[in-house]
Amino acid sequence: MATIEANPLVEGLERLPVPPTALAIFGATGDLARRKLLPALYNLAHQGQLPERFSLIAVARRDLSDDDFREWAGEAIGRFSRTRPDPDVLRELLARMRYVSSEFDDPDGYERLRQALDEADEEAGQPLNRIFYLSTAPSFFPVIIEAIGAAGLNEREGADVRAVIEKPFGTDLASARELNRRTLSVLSEEQVFRIDHYLGKETVQNMMAFRFANAMFEPVWNRNYIDNVQITAAEDIGIEGRSEYYDNAGALRDLVQNHMLQLLCLLCMEPPAAFDADKVRDEKVKVVESVRPPTEDEVASMAVRGQYGPGTIAGEPVPGYREEPGIPPDSKTETYAALRLYVSNWRWAGVPFYLRTGKRLARKLTEIAVTLRPVPHLAFQEGGAVGPQPNVLVFTVQPDEGVTLTLGAKIPGARMRIRPVNMEFHYGTSFLSQSPEAYERLILDAMRGDATLFTRDDEVEAFWAICDPILRAWSERDIPVYEYPAGTDGPPEADQLLAPGQRWRRL
Ligand code: BG6
Repeated sequence: MATIEANPLVEGLERLPVPPTALAIFGATGDLARRKLLPALYNLAHQGQLPERFSLIAVARRDLSDDDFREWAGEAIGRFSRTRPDPDVLRELLARMRYVSSEFDDPDGYERLRQALDEADEEAGQPLNRIFYLSTAPSFFPVIIEAIGAAGLNEREGADVRAVIEKPFGTDLASARELNRRTLSVLSEEQVFRIDHYLGKETVQNMMAFRFANAMFEPVWNRNYIDNVQITAAEDIGIEGRSEYYDNAGALRDLVQNHMLQLLCLLCMEPPAAFDADKVRDEKVKVVESVRPPTEDEVASMAVRGQYGPGTIAGEPVPGYREEPGIPPDSKTETYAALRLYVSNWRWAGVPFYLRTGKRLARKLTEIAVTLRPVPHLAFQEGGAVGPQPNVLVFTVQPDEGVTLTLGAKIPGARMRIRPVNMEFHYGTSFLSQSPEAYERLILDAMRGDATLFTRDDEVEAFWAICDPILRAWSERDIPVYEYPAGTDGPPEADQLLAPGQRWRRL
């Protein structure tokens, strides 16, 4: 069996220099911190990727001491880290944590935060870069940013100050614009890192590597060769106790407005001149701006919404959405959304992009499937074969990260019979390593000041501009919410979006 040492591909997995940093996490006792942020920080420490001078300041409303928080954080890491914590690494990381208990609008709390930051600087013997990570309910985002500004913490001589802002960034175009306005009245755009954790996923970045590091894809990457694209983000989980958030959001806001439109951009964008924050994001914005938002009249024919009813997941009965705790029994919130979009530019005009996402579907699967046009003529057509099928290039983002290309191949034997076979790349097998969690990469990038994998102000607004008319039509018009049993592929009515002869891929 190959060993890590013998595998030349692992040489590419290197460590980057990260400047000394103090990371202040607002909402540090919340669910995201517990499941994702603290475990990600542990894994960075485990791989030696955290800067030598690093301090974490947890800001939250609960009344805890530094030690209480450390104990809580240690448990969270033990439970959710992807690697089993090494006691020494964990102890060292916990020792770098402080806790500031405060309401998010209390100026005194920001004074205590300043003291904690100053202490961290003193210990380090230099001014640390400062990152304010907003992992709170979204209503606090502008409150915290403005309080940071009022306390004069938005800049620091001799160090960089940045804010990482979690999703959701607004609930529609108007609120996103307002949040941008309030944020940018305190910080400059270069200081703002809007998170979309999909951009931190290895396979998502691999879409750019495949497209731009290989000459063979570019010639076919356009309307002349590509027939259609399906982007799927299916989940088998339900709403996981997030009833209040989810019932106000729904699938379109929760996953399409951000993650799925990001995937669309990376798939469609022109090659950037350099892999830097502005050049990459300029290209992405051009893609979103080429997607013409539907008129409200068009919504019924380009979007389908659904909601899960009772059903079975992994052999277990599960309740329908309206029976979930905290969900009103007459809720019309969509837990499934499917769309047909067009990117109206020179490269993509006329190619349908089908997007679908949903909770409580048959299984967890995120993939982008690019189907090429069939060959124009085939001289050999023999019975008993599946026959020629169009090539499909599939980027599987999760769970089994990799890329597959289906090719027509001859079935062994005397006759010329064709059936599709797969050419596969699996991340785990090629690199002999587990891919890092998206948050590890993104926290590291924020500390390094690299905003390439974060959403820019104009980008987030352009995403909302596509979703707004759909949300409006869904809330104001009598457009059905189709029920689908939990554990299935979603409502069959989503087939109406497809062109004749096309099918949604099986989950
Ligand atoms: C989040 C959504 O942004 O992404 C969740 O709010 C969803 O509802 C999650 O479950 C999916 O992320 P992942 O990484 O599991 O695909």
